[in-house]
Amino acid sequence: MCGIVAYLGEKQAYPILINGLRRLEYRGYDSAGVALLADDQLTIYKCQGKVSDLEAHINGRSTVANLGIGHTRWATHGPPNDVNAHPHQGTSGDLALIHNGIIENYAPIKEELVHRGHVFKSDTDTEVLVHLIDDIQRSEGVDLAEAVRLALANVVGAYAIVVIDRKNPDVMVAARKSSPLVIGLGEGEFFCASDATPIVEHTKNVVYMEDGEIAVLDRRQGLKIRNIKNQVKTPFIQELELHLEALEKGGYDHFMLKEIHEQSRSIRDSMRGRLNLAKGEVVLGGIKDYEQKFVNAKRILIVGCGTSWHAGMVGEYLFEEFARIPVEVEYASEFRYRNPVVNEDDIVIAISQSGETADTLAAIELAKGRGATIIGICNVVGSSIARVTHAGSYTHAGPEIGVASTKAFTAQVTVLTLMALMIGQKKGTLIGGNFHRLLNELDAIPDKVQKVLKTEAQIKYIADIYKDAPNALYLGRGYTFPVALEGALKLKEISYIHAEGYPAAEMKHGPIALIDDSMPVFVIATKGASYEKVVSNIQEVKARKGRIIAIVTEGDTVVKDLADHVIEIPETADPLVPLLSVVPLQLISYHIAVMRGCNVDQPRNLAKSVTVE
Ligand code: F6R
Repeated sequence: MCGIVAYLGEKQAYPILINGLRRLEYRGYDSAGVALLADDQLTIYKCQGKVSDLEAHINGRSTVANLGIGHTRWATHGPPNDVNAHPHQGTSGDLALIHNGIIENYAPIKEELVHRGHVFKSDTDTEVLVHLIDDIQRSEGVDLAEAVRLALANVVGAYAIVVIDRKNPDVMVAARKSSPLVIGLGEGEFFCASDATPIVEHTKNVVYMEDGEIAVLDRRQGLKIRNIKNQVKTPFIQELELHLEALEKGGYDHFMLKEIHEQSRSIRDSMRGRLNLAKGEVVLGGIKDYEQKFVNAKRILIVGCGTSWHAGMVGEYLFEEFARIPVEVEYASEFRYRNPVVNEDDIVIAISQSGETADTLAAIELAKGRGATIIGICNVVGSSIARVTHAGSYTHAGPEIGVASTKAFTAQVTVLTLMALMIGQKKGTLIGGNFHRLLNELDAIPDKVQKVLKTEAQIKYIADIYKDAPNALYLGRGYTFPVALEGALKLKEISYIHAEGYPAAEMKHGPIALIDDSMPVFVIATKGASYEKVVSNIQEVKARKGRIIAIVTEGDTVVKDLADHVIEIPETADPLVPLLSVVPLQLISYHIAVMRGCNVDQPRNLAKSVTVE
């Protein structure tokens, strides 16, 4: 939530900031702003709306500066408007600050500052922080970095900030706690950003800041990092593996569509070097040292949010079937706020595309504090979750920029499948022929995904028929129940149609009352263990005149006779059906949203990286 970007060097800062903000816009798009420092003058441009609105707002005005900071906001404290847009300034007008996170104790600090004569303009928690730094700088007579350190010692909450000072155009100060911040090191220039996407085209050398660190980026003295206790830290410089093409739409109308179409490749990448058909083995190097712990585990807990939680539900079925380990899947937000029973024998698998989701991070801290072993499944390399877990496996799906998660889901399910297969084999619960059959089936999934994508024209036709439906139901059973939930989430988040996912058999315990001839019911009715039961559920819907859109196995004739529309997917083993059946549901949601004129990549009220609770 909220994207921040900053530049200090010899080049013009503004184009770098605007380009960076466009890359970070997935993090929030309620308002945007920049502060530019040149000739001892701080110029701030900010407004409600998207980065393009900011550009229109600035159009023609001076942007000359080689030091600047920029922000794109997802509103927490205070509505999205011009005044609440970042950057914010303190009373002296010398400082400008951008912030991603939440200052939880802003109220008492603000009260104290008002008492000391500070006048506030916005409703944000962020403005409190810049006033506090300003106040300390002046009252203590310290430099900016020290004022930031002293101020942060008083702050409770999460932050990634960058501050600049009109009186010192050679320096910018950055700090982080529980919100991500990356520093880019170029030739005589520095970048800061919420993630590496604004940096990658300028330099590959980056430092991922750690919690509690404060960085001083100085034209003459280079990069210096201290922690909040004033101890000197040695920056760990890493080389970025990110490629610029991965951040472009590549000819597609939207990132979401590109990412749906990338899934054959991204699933293959998730398996690369891990699935060895010739040797008949699965090797997940990242969790190798924890294999025995898995084999001995009495229980696995899986935590995540949204789509990652849905992937976790597929994981539950996989681990229970292949490795015979009981699994509980928890919303990270619920897990962290009750008093869950967690102990040293437990394995907690934390799933997160961004690796920054605040609730998932907090759930990890809680479980870690109780002695559990934490295994991460993250997409973003170097993200906070990837760093706080004991071990883990990256999904390697590549950057996911569309706010609605698509390729991240299939990559997460792929990694969970590999993990469950590996542990099942090691434990001896998944023996011989079955293990090898599943390996072969998994290896064939990318090609089958490619085949499913070829049904897009037919899916578009179906989308056109149902685009105006006010409600929709999604039904699945067994492995496809989480897919039904995911299909419903995709539809509601990007097209704003109310949708519910249900286990098909649960329908008769309530939701069946909703069915009439205007209700589209998406049913995953592939051949497998529950096929006959799902066919009965379809009959129940038809008897109430519901409109059935069924995802079926190629060659199915039974459901074809019952359903209003069928979308065929290739046959595969039951546990792998989620990887194929979710694809048509992603495409349906995408096309319905486009036909309804919705902003597919940036749906209202959402942000990709949910770094607030
Ligand atoms: C839905 C979606 C969200 C995320 C959720 C968790 O399309 O994208 O529901 O899945 O916010 O995010 P991560 O996986 O980054 O922890």
